Amino acid sequence: MTITIIGHGYVGLVTACVFSDFGNDVWVIGHTKEKINKLKKGDPIIYEPGLAELLQKNLKAKRIHFELDYESVNHSEIVFITVGTPPKETGEADLSAVFDVARNVAKNLSDSKNHFTVVSCKSTVPVGTNKKVEIILKKHKLKNAKFSVASCPEFLREGTGIHDTINADRVVVGSDSKKAIDLLLELHKPINGKRVITDLSSAELIKYVSNAMLATKISFSNLISFYAEKVDADVEAVLDAVGLDKRIGRIFMSPGVGYGGSCLPKDVMALIEVGKKLEIGSSFLIEVEKVNQMAKENFLNKILKNSPGKNVAIWGLAFKPNTDDIRFAPSIFIINSLLKEGFTIEVYDQEAENNIKKLFGEKIKYATSPYHALKNADALIILTEWNEFRQADLNKIKKLLTNPVVFDGRNIYDPSVLKKLGFRYFSIGRP
Ligand SMILES: NC(=O)c1ccc[n+]([C@@H]2O[C@H](COP(=O)([O-])OP(=O)(O)OC[C@H]3O[C@@H](n4cnc5c(N)ncnc54)[C@H](O)[C@@H]3O)[C@@H](O)[C@H]2O)c1
Repeated sequence: MTITIIGHGYVGLVTACVFSDFGNDVWVIGHTKEKINKLKKGDPIIYEPGLAELLQKNLKAKRIHFELDYESVNHSEIVFITVGTPPKETGEADLSAVFDVARNVAKNLSDSKNHFTVVSCKSTVPVGTNKKVEIILKKHKLKNAKFSVASCPEFLREGTGIHDTINADRVVVGSDSKKAIDLLLELHKPINGKRVITDLSSAELIKYVSNAMLATKISFSNLISFYAEKVDADVEAVLDAVGLDKRIGRIFMSPGVGYGGSCLPKDVMALIEVGKKLEIGSSFLIEVEKVNQMAKENFLNKILKNSPGKNVAIWGLAFKPNTDDIRFAPSIFIINSLLKEGFTIEVYDQEAENNIKKLFGEKIKYATSPYHALKNADALIILTEWNEFRQADLNKIKKLLTNPVVFDGRNIYDPSVLKKLGFRYFSIGRP
């Protein structure tokens, strides 16, 4: 098939590389010349494990192309919109990029007799957006151009994006058009995962509900960690036992320094706003958000109360491991708050450092290795559970720190081991 993908971020580029690797002819459209030139040379711009290799392989095979213009839409069977839908100040999803792109797609849809195009949003968009896209396409297309819209929400997780795209839990396709559904199913044939065929609104809602549920699981776990801290219980033991109930499960019950990233925070905010508009009430999700903020503040207060000095090292800046994405990362809140309190900070994150540099510049220092960050630091703060920290040399950490104090926002170490080694160890919801 020939497909066009608009946007080359975590969703757009991963989708493009996977479908071109299956043998499709994939055209990717961006709006920044410099980035398109980098992509043409095999630089994925973002960090996602395995992406650079997959991109370079498919560039070599001439199955993936990068352009600034929309010409490829004219000979594509499927067009995916994968542009960002960031939150506005109100929390609502900003759909301006989706609608801009839809106008450009419309003007380039083929009007040849036998050509039919599916236009599908992979971006996370509130219910009703694909209908609005359909109206835009109808308004701006050539008279005889034939098309249908479909919602095909994306569920990949940054850090395992390629694996998740190929081995999806589910492939959701929502449309009123059988032809559109059939074409999308045909494209997804090599993808593992259960097929869910539904209407447009349900497909759009499925994505928001999935992210709201994930955020709820994290906030629920954090709420239990607050209880555990007050009564000297161990949140991990509590959740291990609770999770053995098959109706509940343990997956994603992760107490920590709060959720971040480009999806959960913005999608919860957007669903809250939609709930208000529909007069359903959003108090449940407002609490989910509130507990997330409390998780960050609770951790910050532990540092402010217990740090023996104001020189600290931070390990991990990305909102989760295996990505360079720092959007809504708890590290931003923690760094900003510590700077306000007069702390000196040296950070280490193998992938996210450059993005943090764009935000904080010279205000903080950047280490070239985890241990390098510890020299002269009064305490170590862990914000992302990168693998390289999990089995770090604890004796070396102790030797390098001026005080053996660790604030672990991801519960990666065993408290009894650290205690035995003479550390003061503060983690989440554990005595
Ligand atoms: N990142 C994830 O893990 C993930 C997972 C599932 C769904 N989503 C959803 O997919 C969408 C994209 O997310 P992302 O993380 O890939 O975002 P991103 O910021 O990484 O990428 C967005 C892309 O859109 C491009 N873009 C923006 N405006 C444009 C325009 N007017 N014309 C052409 N290109 C334009 C940007 O240049 C960029 O390449 C969002 O709605 C997000 O909620 C993201």
